[in-house]
Amino acid sequence: MNTKKIHAYAPASIGNVSCGFDVMGMAVDAPGDEVILTLNDSGVVSIKDIEGDNGKLPRKAEENTAGVAVIEFLKAIESNHGAEITLIKNLPLGSGMGSSAASAVAAVIAINRALGNPFLKADLLPFVMQAEFVACGSAHADNAAPSLLGGLILIRDNHPLDIIEIPTPEELMCVLVHPHVEVKTRDARQVLKTSVPLKDAITQWGNTAALVAGMMKPDYELIGRSLQDVVAEPMRSVLIPGFHSIKQAAVTAGALGCGISGSGPTMFSFCKGKAIADNVGVAMQQQFAAVGLQSEVYVSKVNKAGARVIG
Ligand code: HSE
Repeated sequence: MNTKKIHAYAPASIGNVSCGFDVMGMAVDAPGDEVILTLNDSGVVSIKDIEGDNGKLPRKAEENTAGVAVIEFLKAIESNHGAEITLIKNLPLGSGMGSSAASAVAAVIAINRALGNPFLKADLLPFVMQAEFVACGSAHADNAAPSLLGGLILIRDNHPLDIIEIPTPEELMCVLVHPHVEVKTRDARQVLKTSVPLKDAITQWGNTAALVAGMMKPDYELIGRSLQDVVAEPMRSVLIPGFHSIKQAAVTAGALGCGISGSGPTMFSFCKGKAIADNVGVAMQQQFAAVGLQSEVYVSKVNKAGARVIG
């Protein structure tokens, strides 16, 4: 039997980056998910084991994002190969840190390498989006694209996919604080309104454009001013206990800005430099504690390389 074992890593990501609902996402250095994939000739994709999910994720490959991404990949190249997947979940589920996307990204990176890289990295994105659709009913790319490619990604269009890599300043640090409550992306999408008043739309696209300008100039103050979301945050913030006090605490501790990471409940802050980022992480964690929630803090640079094979 033809066997080949590949170990891949894919980082967490901050979907939306506040104002860029469904069109922007940024990869962080750590944490991330890992996949160990063994290629075989069985024609069947299976999940051998999942570590770190407390038994919560589907073990059927057709229902698991890592499995779906590999199935779609093999279908696309009309391959008779199969694969056995071991998933190491370092990312909390339902956290807003791009957990479902990271598993799928690590899986496609692994199968691509196992078969001699028939696809360029960017061309793997549709397989991950297919997996996102299965996981949360929406084929958004704002976690999938940054986890795969790294950096800050703008998704100008989904049909056909048109993604743009936005440079980020060297001293930009990301703080992610994950409180111990679960918010499913599917549910967090259902609380959204289906239309946006023109006044809010103007505010939103002003901020989205300004955030890109702030990253490229670079202008840290402008980045901070632009981290405003009048489309999703007003509805979703009610799902996060203490939301407003946490945001205030982050800014008081020196954050450039603060918002919901993806669909929440994780909150993120951008900061200039590690020392400020460390303080901001502590301040945000203290506020979550004040509303009775334990949390983990992750302070990280922007991950500019994206997912990679690690063994
Ligand atoms: N853009 C998606 C949403 C990201 O906000 O629903 C999910 O992490």
